[in-house]
Amino acid sequence: MQTKHLVNSDRLWKSLMDMAKIGATEKGGVCRLALTDLDRDARDLFVKWCKEAGCTITIDQMGNVFARRAGKDNSLAPVVTGSHIDSQPTGGKFDGVYGVLAGLEVIRSLNDAKVETLRPIEASIWTNEEGSRFAPAMISSGIFGGAFELEYGLNRPDLDGKTMGEELKRIGYAGKEPVGGRPFHAFFEAHIEQGPILEHDKKTIGIVQGGLGQRWMEVTMTGVESHAGPTPMRIRKDAMVGAAHVITAVNKIGHSYPHACATVGLVQCSPNSRNTIPGKVFFTIDLRHNEDEVLTKMAQEAKAAAEKAAKENGLELDYKEIWYLPPVKFSADCVQAVANAASELGFSHMPIISGAGHDSFYINRVAPAAMVFVPCDGGISHNEIENATQEDIAAGCSVLMRAMIERANSL
Ligand code: GLV
Ligand code: MN
Ligand code: MN
Repeated sequence: MQTKHLVNSDRLWKSLMDMAKIGATEKGGVCRLALTDLDRDARDLFVKWCKEAGCTITIDQMGNVFARRAGKDNSLAPVVTGSHIDSQPTGGKFDGVYGVLAGLEVIRSLNDAKVETLRPIEASIWTNEEGSRFAPAMISSGIFGGAFELEYGLNRPDLDGKTMGEELKRIGYAGKEPVGGRPFHAFFEAHIEQGPILEHDKKTIGIVQGGLGQRWMEVTMTGVESHAGPTPMRIRKDAMVGAAHVITAVNKIGHSYPHACATVGLVQCSPNSRNTIPGKVFFTIDLRHNEDEVLTKMAQEAKAAAEKAAKENGLELDYKEIWYLPPVKFSADCVQAVANAASELGFSHMPIISGAGHDSFYINRVAPAAMVFVPCDGGISHNEIENATQEDIAAGCSVLMRAMIERANSL
């Protein structure tokens, strides 16, 4: 038996559907890449809604946005929630933006109930979580958490060479506040699970304990472009063949360790012409595991496979690891606050580890953090068909609200 939601379920759902119009795709998903005009439009709408809810807005130098609802004692550090508003190229209506709008809904519901918390409450947007336009993922929360320097973040280029710093200025979200050094009493992030476990186990709430470590690589294999007809097989230097060997090896690595994930998701072939032997192939590798030692071994094996494939096919190899995120363990206090909230509200729940990366992973380095997961249909995410029920979305937001109030009234 589930109790009544603390939040306005219809209002939250409508906000999500209205926001999903910004970057809506024909298949019912969203394409709202970081720092595009669509990202700006979505930010503008969030800021407008937050101002209407009585919040004051702060924007930092990476375009992270903080909407603050005052507390009784505004000298105390706030309790903050939030997530990201950028999407994958073929993303859904919930990944990220749910956590942002859940924060707004908490603020609106506190306003409706005329509840004053001791500490201020903030809802936030973190710039470029997805890492699909600018790699790596979670750059701006990473700077906030001390993992990267500001200059590194501002200089990250997209595949056309435009940098985050330039694009932040262009869309009007290059704020003045320094990134980080903003104390949070606690940070909570609501998110769809993006995997099948909650749905399979018939639980409404995932109490997220932490998340998988990740290592991201960028690989370029260079051979010789030449005509697909006159060039005999035995003297070719075909970069695509080398890449194919590495891609297969990466997949094998993923299969050879329990709970490992290994993906090649981006491939660019040059010149990409059907009757020219590929001279250059650029591709990415994404490795994940919840044990750091296993993740290290996976990375060593992927590199060895690339070296072998390059040698056997007469290719030059440029192999770079561009991102390392150690496995994350959330704050025991915040995890407990989420578990208490789920129990007290009567929602079925279970502990869970996040396979996806999230901004709260980096925020957890500088403030106690935890997450609330809700199920999504078939566990599908990073897909335009991504979906979740209004009931589960509201349940997660109610748990978020209760956990935030508990922390916001604690000294
Ligand atoms: C972010 O979406 C990730 O890659 O986990
Ligand atoms: Mn996300
Ligand atoms: Mn995502």
